[in-house]
Amino acid sequence: MIDKINKLLQEVEEFTALNKEHLEEYRIKWISKKGEISILFDEFKSVPNELKKEVGQKLNQLKNSAQEKINLFKEAFDSSEQQTTHTDLTIPGLPIVQNGSRHPLTLVKNQIIDIFSRIGFTVSDGKEIEDDWHNFTALNTPDNHPARDMQDTFYVSLNPEMVLRTQTSSAQVHLMQQRKPPIRTISPGRVYRNEAISARAHCQFHQVEGLYIDEQVSFADLKQTLLYFAKEMFGAETKIRLRPSYFPFTEPSAEMDISCTICKGEGCNVCKYSGWVEILGCGMVDPQVLINCGIDENKYKGFAFGMGIERITMLKYQIKDLRLFFENDIRFLKQFTSA
Ligand code: DAH
Repeated sequence: MIDKINKLLQEVEEFTALNKEHLEEYRIKWISKKGEISILFDEFKSVPNELKKEVGQKLNQLKNSAQEKINLFKEAFDSSEQQTTHTDLTIPGLPIVQNGSRHPLTLVKNQIIDIFSRIGFTVSDGKEIEDDWHNFTALNTPDNHPARDMQDTFYVSLNPEMVLRTQTSSAQVHLMQQRKPPIRTISPGRVYRNEAISARAHCQFHQVEGLYIDEQVSFADLKQTLLYFAKEMFGAETKIRLRPSYFPFTEPSAEMDISCTICKGEGCNVCKYSGWVEILGCGMVDPQVLINCGIDENKYKGFAFGMGIERITMLKYQIKDLRLFFENDIRFLKQFTSA
């Protein structure tokens, strides 16, 4: 009898039901009133007393496994039946609840690209890991020049000639080396400086560099280009003002302010009650930089400008803390889904 039980146990173990009918066939075969297991229970009555315990346990094990196997397949067939009978293909799909959105810096960068491409500026890539010559020396900032102090950077320890660029102005140098004028392009990208992180400073931020080199480029062209940009970016009523300044690679150089976007020039704490906010540096490309980059300084002139994307974004959206851009706090980023 033990043999018989073992054989049946193995059959139960190996059994897989192909469909409901197949399963029912086996249910009847095993556990119906006239099934094999019921018959075994009948036979059990005549098992000698000393074997009853062992045979009884085996028989119960067989009964339970057969029942479990049948329940298992029954459930599987029932649920797949339910699914097929209840699928309504005309029901609209579930809405995507967590829709992603662009980062505010990307939004503003795209807007800057759009504004300049409308007046013929192309977009160029620079390099984030730059050699010292492109980042400083070619831009009239040789070793030990005091202007290097303003842009303390990260040098690559394996190769001290390489730096994480401190300004997108290095892209100007590559562009002038690689292309023949006329050159009219902007180059957005990330820059790095060794700064303590605070609400107003960070060790990484973004700039957009602008460069225009041709035979007849004047300061008036620079001013008109930047006025157009300011009006497109901040609204038609925006005014600009250029203040003389110093950059090693432009001569003359200027810093550009726009009329305060918050108080419209009346005076508030954003513009420190001056009515103006600084947004970029600019100037006419120094002839020595043209020479450094292999461009005929007698034939060509040009202007350049550089602006911080964070600064423009903070003004546009009234964001008070620079760190918010890099923390990736979803509560901050979510506020730009409709922008
Ligand atoms: N590179 C300068 C900075 O990071 C910004 C700048 C000033 C860029 C004048 C220019 C320029 O192209 O002409 O402070």
